[in-house]
Amino acid sequence: MRKPLVAGNWKMNLDRRTAVDLLTHLKSLLHDLNDEVDVVVCPPSVYLDLASLEIKLSNIKMGAQNVAATTNQAATGEVSAEMLREFGCEYVIIGHSERRAMLGETDKQIAAKFAIARDAGITPIICVGEEGGDGLAVVSSQLRAVVDKLGMQAFENAVIAYEPVWAIGTGKSASPSQVQEMHEHIRELVTTDVRIVYGGSVKPENAEEIFAQHDVDGGLIGGASLKAQDFSDICHAAMSVAGR
Ligand code: PGA
Repeated sequence: MRKPLVAGNWKMNLDRRTAVDLLTHLKSLLHDLNDEVDVVVCPPSVYLDLASLEIKLSNIKMGAQNVAATTNQAATGEVSAEMLREFGCEYVIIGHSERRAMLGETDKQIAAKFAIARDAGITPIICVGEEGGDGLAVVSSQLRAVVDKLGMQAFENAVIAYEPVWAIGTGKSASPSQVQEMHEHIRELVTTDVRIVYGGSVKPENAEEIFAQHDVDGGLIGGASLKAQDFSDICHAAMSVAGR
């Protein structure tokens, strides 16, 4: 049985005050969060300390948005997996399409980050997805880099986020059947019980239908994770699907 996961990717949004407000509000909206779903917030790294204090004693977990691809300390501006661990991060988003596009992150660097996160005991949430065209070919080659480096067992206890680039931040999500089809293919590729979440314009209105698909194990939520009520509704949709 795969436990659903709903992760909020705050990207480069909010400030100290609005981050605290959001978490305070979320804690009260998610007071009934049960053990059937993992809920994770991923603030910018400078707010991890503040967020870890806010979510202490709650059932919300914390993740980071990136990790250094090296353990070499001569890496100005980078944040290591050990540092993330020290701040209480249990998850880290790796290979988000915005970083692939803006910073030119390569599949090889992403595989290195994946390995480093795992070594530090942090669960990688690896993002894959096509800009257009043959999604399966793109996703296969993105995942191949991890398999080449670490073998197929690398995906045990990891999370794959399928995020078609055209659906991110556009309000235009993939249809539930498109999502199911791709997730099913991904599951065939990696042949493990890996959790596969969907990302790309998930909102309260479409979350339940997407999460109800057989091979969908939750979501990676951008814009809607910045609004406590919306994010809570999405988490509750995952809970209601898990409880069936
Ligand atoms: P979105 O972003 O929910 O705003 O489309 C998803 C993501 O980038 O992870």
